[in-house]
Amino acid sequence: MKTILTGDRPTGSLHLGHYVGSLKTRVALQREYATYVLIADVQALTDHADEPELVRRNVFEVALDYLAVGIDPSAATIVVQSGVPELAELTVYYLNLVTVARLGRNPTVKDEMQQKGFGADVPAGFLVYPVSQAADITAFKADVVPVGEDQLPMIEQTVEIVRRFNRLYGPVFVEPTALVSKHGRLPGTDGQSKMGKSIGNAIFLSDPTDVVAQKVMGMFTDPGHARAELPGTVEGNPVFSYLEAFEPDAGAVEDLKLRYRAGGLGDVALKRRLIDVLEAFLGPIRARRIEFARDPAAVAQVLREGTARGRAVAHQTLGEVRRALHLDG
Ligand code: TRP
Repeated sequence: MKTILTGDRPTGSLHLGHYVGSLKTRVALQREYATYVLIADVQALTDHADEPELVRRNVFEVALDYLAVGIDPSAATIVVQSGVPELAELTVYYLNLVTVARLGRNPTVKDEMQQKGFGADVPAGFLVYPVSQAADITAFKADVVPVGEDQLPMIEQTVEIVRRFNRLYGPVFVEPTALVSKHGRLPGTDGQSKMGKSIGNAIFLSDPTDVVAQKVMGMFTDPGHARAELPGTVEGNPVFSYLEAFEPDAGAVEDLKLRYRAGGLGDVALKRRLIDVLEAFLGPIRARRIEFARDPAAVAQVLREGTARGRAVAHQTLGEVRRALHLDG
């Protein structure tokens, strides 16, 4: 059986963008692959060093999101990163296989640095987080990493590290492959390219019905579509991106597009339709989330057991790494 590893930084609850980009694939593949899902709390500290309680709280929230969307602890292993110190050890060895210049060229890190306004004052831990991510992926010997598009540069960097390691020290690791969902990235409710948990343009998996309705009603559409009778533009209209991602009946979406383009389908009617579609999707997720939230001790146990199983795998890999590096005494 091949192995999947993927994960999220627990800096907030997960949203529809996470679902489309990666959660959906994980749920679909969890029985075909040995699946590890990492709650990356150590990585979350690379840009939240001043808010450890926020990270701690969100470990639990992200675990609830996982369980609510159908990640099944009897099929997949949920691992809390800080419970596996072997990942930090492997990161230290990998840091010698990457140059500072290469780290500075990682496009996702560059974007994030700009977004966070780090400038020259970027924490060293943040600049090197792709290396710790390479450690996460390889410690579990993952073959496949289901991620959103923005994570592709991380996988690329991981492959480079694996090649360098294997060439210098012998064939310990396999080269992982990224698996990006066909829907790519879901735009934010503001029509911006990416839904982000801290940008104020996200619909969260845990949002109540009225909040979802309010966010949809406030969504960006086609700014040229001033009246219902006028023809509207589908391209770049996030309401249609969401319908494509969440309306199971693709024919119905095509029909709406035709009517929108022809004129006569107003934004309000279209948004009402999206609210129904999202409610059909989120309703059961929300109900399961509430159910799991009632039993925090059971959730904590899922995390403890998953982390112990994950640690055993990483421990085994680190044994091989230490031998390859002549660090085994
Ligand atoms: N960087 C990912 C995010 O921002 C989280 C993550 C940490 C991850 N380690 C990983 C993703 C390993 C895939 C594989 O959400």
